[in-house]
Amino acid sequence: MEYSEKVMDHFMNPRNVGVIEDASGVGQVGNLKCGDIMKVYLKIENGRIEDAKFKTFGCGAAVATSSMATELVKGKTLQEALEVTNKAVMEALDGLPPVKVHCSCLAEEALHAALWDYAQKNQMEIHGLKAPVEDIDELHQNENED
Ligand code: FES
Repeated sequence: MEYSEKVMDHFMNPRNVGVIEDASGVGQVGNLKCGDIMKVYLKIENGRIEDAKFKTFGCGAAVATSSMATELVKGKTLQEALEVTNKAVMEALDGLPPVKVHCSCLAEEALHAALWDYAQKNQMEIHGLKAPVEDIDELHQNENED
């Protein structure tokens, strides 16, 4: 299995690992198939993501995609953060091997769950944001058949 240099870099030196104590939103998702878990913390001020951190019990690809995803959302508005999809993250990492694509969904879903948590706490709606799932297989069941 070949990993790009960027994936290796973000795996070996992950950015934004940790916890935000007074986070504005926290999201956690798991992937029952591999047993991996991802937790994302967001600090949001004036509608912008000031800081993002993650903690994971996940594989190398999950670490690298979360590292990149948290880097990409920093400084973005909530609406812009929704555009940080697993595809966008994979592109920023110069791709992932096909069997590892589902790992990038963990980062995206945990990010969405954290945004959802924030929206709930502040009684607001983020256009296009759907309620989070606890297990990403619920979402990607049909895509994972191969
Ligand atoms: Fe589970 Fe990568 S194998 S997230």
